[in-house]
Amino acid sequence: MSPAIGGTLNRVDGRAKVRGDARYSAEVAVTGLVHAVLVNATVASGRITAIDTAEAERADGVLAVFTHRNLSRVASVPPLLPSLAGLAAPGQTFFPMQDEVIHYSGQPIAIVVADTVERADHAGTLIRVEYAATPSITLLDQARDQAYVPERIFGGLLPGQASRGDVAKALAEAQVCVDATYRFAPNHHNPIEPSASTAVWEDVDRLTIYDSTQGPNATQFTVAALLGLPPISIRVVSHAVGGSFGSKAMIWHHPALAALAARQVGRPVQLALTREQMFTSCGHREEQEQRITIGAGADGRITALRHHKLSLTSRFDDWAEPSLQSPAVAYTSPHYEGIYHLVRGNTITPTFMRAPGEATGMFALECAMDELAEQIGIDPLELRLRNYSDADPESGNPWSSSGLKECYQRASELFGWRDRDSRPRREDQWLIGSGMASALYPVTQPVNPQRARARLYNDGTAVVEAGVSEFGTGVFTAMTQVAADALGLPVERVRFVGGSSDLPNVTAAVGSAGTSAVGSAVHLATTQLRDELIRRAVADAHSPLHGADPGTVVVQDGRMALRDRPDVGETYADMMARTLTPDAEVLGTWTPPPQDAGYGLHTFGAQMAEVAVDADLGVVRVRRMVGVFAPGRVLNRKTAHSQLMGGMLWGLGQALLEATRMDPRSGRWANASLGDYLVAVNADAPDVVVDTVEVHDEVVNPLGMKGVGEIGVVGAAAAIANAVHDATGRRQYELPITLEKLL
Ligand code: MOS
Repeated sequence: MSPAIGGTLNRVDGRAKVRGDARYSAEVAVTGLVHAVLVNATVASGRITAIDTAEAERADGVLAVFTHRNLSRVASVPPLLPSLAGLAAPGQTFFPMQDEVIHYSGQPIAIVVADTVERADHAGTLIRVEYAATPSITLLDQARDQAYVPERIFGGLLPGQASRGDVAKALAEAQVCVDATYRFAPNHHNPIEPSASTAVWEDVDRLTIYDSTQGPNATQFTVAALLGLPPISIRVVSHAVGGSFGSKAMIWHHPALAALAARQVGRPVQLALTREQMFTSCGHREEQEQRITIGAGADGRITALRHHKLSLTSRFDDWAEPSLQSPAVAYTSPHYEGIYHLVRGNTITPTFMRAPGEATGMFALECAMDELAEQIGIDPLELRLRNYSDADPESGNPWSSSGLKECYQRASELFGWRDRDSRPRREDQWLIGSGMASALYPVTQPVNPQRARARLYNDGTAVVEAGVSEFGTGVFTAMTQVAADALGLPVERVRFVGGSSDLPNVTAAVGSAGTSAVGSAVHLATTQLRDELIRRAVADAHSPLHGADPGTVVVQDGRMALRDRPDVGETYADMMARTLTPDAEVLGTWTPPPQDAGYGLHTFGAQMAEVAVDADLGVVRVRRMVGVFAPGRVLNRKTAHSQLMGGMLWGLGQALLEATRMDPRSGRWANASLGDYLVAVNADAPDVVVDTVEVHDEVVNPLGMKGVGEIGVVGAAAAIANAVHDATGRRQYELPITLEKLL
């Protein structure tokens, strides 16, 4: 294999980002730029009865104030569709400021445009609003009796319920049964860069939006539909994105609002959400409850699994993060039933959040598995091994690749699982315990063909392009490696360009599928370009390679040569100079395999954690985490390691810290700030050991990649909760595990 793939190339965008040279969407310099500030509803339900903008309009520097009375109507709101299709992907099917009705607190009710952001902000405080408020529902507990089973969830991609066998009968006959309900606080993504859009109209039908997005093409199609313009009218540029975790996966209101305001004031408009607005503008992980019922034989073999979820969605959309998908296939279980129940509430539509669905669903399953192991009296790892399935239990299809047993084995070695002291242990005031969990994440495939363009210049440098954006995943770096390998060039001579809807359309980078989807297209484009140049050389009477079989020619360091006679050959540059060729270009297209190609598609891993719990204060400190994953081909060991470790620490935050607290009296988030919403920081981070086991996967894509973006999260929180139980004897049924739960 080639040198670049699998190496540890530093991030190609790293230098610009740490030196402050990278340009984010609220930093683009545009002549004549003015600033928009959103004003948000302060009630959760009702309608606006009066809105007085006169004083705001008179304030210094103000160009315009828009409300539902004077903002242009949108042409249409496209249906909810996860952004895997490269098509329109609105975050919710409600678009604000079209009428006076308020559906959730934080809903935009006015836009103030002024010459500076401070003046716009001030003018916003001068708007007088009167509401006729109506009772709101912002907590599950307020409306459990209104729960319903949706026909489909997740933008129509998944059914609201699924079953196999006869779960009720199997549960009744089971020798051992675990029945547990887990509750999850809502979570918010909190990327370091709040979302922002800068909208510039060059003509009545030429709009450029600089947008902080996971999918420039998805933004383009969404704004086109909202504004009633053809996609050719809209260009979306996303130079640098400061994190996302799913908050920029679907396309929310701000790019279209910036565009509408810019069109009406006739100036370029920049709309940057505040930190607080990030809590009501880009979705969140919904409040939810999951009940797991496992029936098993006395030997621990699972005979039945029932998994019911109840969660809060918006008034418009049947959104639930897909928490039932991975648990349904994690272990062999002949009888299964999974049902989503939804309650409509006064919130924005929830959305993807890192390991969307699996982070909570696998938490529930893996904690219940720990309880089952305890009941039967066997080691938790042994229980997993007894229930290992080498085929997808739903379809019976073999896994495209697994590696799960190898992950268990390697994690055990690294952690010292089998030698651990499983008796209650105490060190001073600290109670010590260990826990483990399995990790599963589906191999998400994009819906549409993925395209990339590769161009080689006559000096032997190459530019490779695709519309993907870089929000910290390392995708630009990995694409540079893929292209360098296929073209036989040093990485310094390859430049990857992404972050624009003018470039070949690819999926938004979601579902851990960005790098593999775009990588497959880049691999095909660059391989085809190399083959094209080799064909030209062997066809050229003046080439030393003339007449050679193209299959015997390899490229290294920009030089094409016979594999067995490296002295016979010439460089791309020499061949192109002689043939008066300025450049050569290929558009590569990768069509993902159909979903029903006869394989179960999942990524697997194993997590282990050791915790210390303060016996007096209930404080949980995670001492060690070990995560071993089988993500298929790894393009860049360094960025992959960072992704997996970051995922595990994200799981630590999920276990112990992250919670958005709803105040049901006001219908508002009570801790909508980075100071009050706790995320894991360096001081919380234990010793984290990350490793991978190799699996070869010929099915998923040409590179054999299954992705590393989210699998690191899955199971991490369960391993910690199980370790807390091991240390204290107390089961944890509610996340986050705050200290009062251990007093
Ligand atoms: Mo990722 S949470 O699927 O954007």
